[in-house]
Amino acid sequence: MAFDVSVIGLGRVGLPLALSFADAGLSVLGVDNDPARLSSLRVGRMPFKEPGTQEMLGRVQAAGRLELSDRAEDAAAAAAIVLTLGTPALSHIEIDISQIRAVLDDMLPALSPGKLIALRSTVAPGTTEFVAGYLEKQRDFDVGRDFFVAHVPERIAADQFMAEIGTLPCIIGGIGEASGERAERLFEVLGAPIVHTTPLQAELAKIWTNILRYATFALPNLLMMDCERYGANVFEVIELINRDYPRGGMGRPGMTAGTCLRKDFAFSEERSNAPGMLLAVSRVHESVPLFLVEGVKRRLRGLRGRKVAVLGLAFKRDTDDERDSLSHKLVRLLERELADVVVHDPVVQTPTADLSEALTGADAVIVATDHSAYSSPETLAEIESRSPDCLVVDPWNAFRSGQVFGFASEVAALR
Ligand SMILES: NC(=O)c1ccc[n+]([C@@H]2O[C@H](COP(=O)([O-])OP(=O)(O)OC[C@H]3O[C@@H](n4cnc5c(N)ncnc54)[C@H](O)[C@@H]3O)[C@@H](O)[C@H]2O)c1
Repeated sequence: MAFDVSVIGLGRVGLPLALSFADAGLSVLGVDNDPARLSSLRVGRMPFKEPGTQEMLGRVQAAGRLELSDRAEDAAAAAAIVLTLGTPALSHIEIDISQIRAVLDDMLPALSPGKLIALRSTVAPGTTEFVAGYLEKQRDFDVGRDFFVAHVPERIAADQFMAEIGTLPCIIGGIGEASGERAERLFEVLGAPIVHTTPLQAELAKIWTNILRYATFALPNLLMMDCERYGANVFEVIELINRDYPRGGMGRPGMTAGTCLRKDFAFSEERSNAPGMLLAVSRVHESVPLFLVEGVKRRLRGLRGRKVAVLGLAFKRDTDDERDSLSHKLVRLLERELADVVVHDPVVQTPTADLSEALTGADAVIVATDHSAYSSPETLAEIESRSPDCLVVDPWNAFRSGQVFGFASEVAALR
């Protein structure tokens, strides 16, 4: 069967995209080499949480518009091939493009002129040119004339896919005008406004979208740690900064990480003119778990044998994505202090303790993820009833008490 489009890499980016193409009427081949992912899809079950996608999966499977394969070679038969593979950062401060290389090598013998390869993964500047050059070198294509390559970065946040896929401007950086036009014909079915640019500018726009967020969140986190040093209240200082100030404002502290923000800055750091600047941003975020652990340790005069409830394993509010979450680092650091750690998370797929089990008799409760379930007055009431003397650690201000560290009765009174 000739497919309109194949999507290689059915992860958190690729799968919702494949479903959206199919729902828009295209015939889609989804490719992934993870057998568990394919088996879940074959029985019609989404392998992760993304609002609206379970219904969409049912719809496109019933309509026969989504086929699945574990072989990248099969993707080469489609008119357009979208790569949504993982692009981690190596510890050498360098993009890891091994997944992209592997898939290109698998497809090389089967690729024919006239196809489009759209690179949807987040990549370091120059990677789209590399992909085009690699295809020209290995297969003698003349990219931009008889074969087409474009970078069409994904900027949607986890849990927001369906809300944003039809509205967030779709940036297209084609190698030559014809590649851009081919990519537009594919992505226009999703309905978002299209903006054409060069591949390099598309790459820079994507990674700097994330760098902007990562650097922005570092400021309130650094301020939170400074305030502890000076005995000041970070929420009051932020309120003083922001109140009626007409030129922007300070965000709020929290445990900032996740699979994108934690590594995309490295794609700039690879060749930076100010090496270390973004590493410093990363260090700020990476030091927040230790800051919280030390704050608890000081206030409880030691952590050995003390029960600590960690609320939230996901990297951000209401997602089930735990990849690169700082909660795991927080748990490891607490365990290294010989604390008895009990974790609760109502959203992730990893089994965790019940909220009541986690809270009963806890010496400290740390809100590690600001899931909306935790912001409710009921959670605070449960903390107060199950461990009335415990220390509540709330860098997100989920309980609206305006205290990063406060004892349960104090937090409840301030709410
Ligand atoms: N997760 C996000 O919210 C998000 C947002 C914007 C951009 N991005 C970027 O999009 C890209 C994909 O991210 P993701 O979170 O979906 O990653 P992911 O790791 O969830 O998905 C990648 C998928 O590719 C599959 N895969 C790996 N090698 C393969 C091969 N040789 N053949 C077939 N399948 C293979 C894996 O099994 C996996 O399912 C990354 O570049 C990421 O930086 C992610």
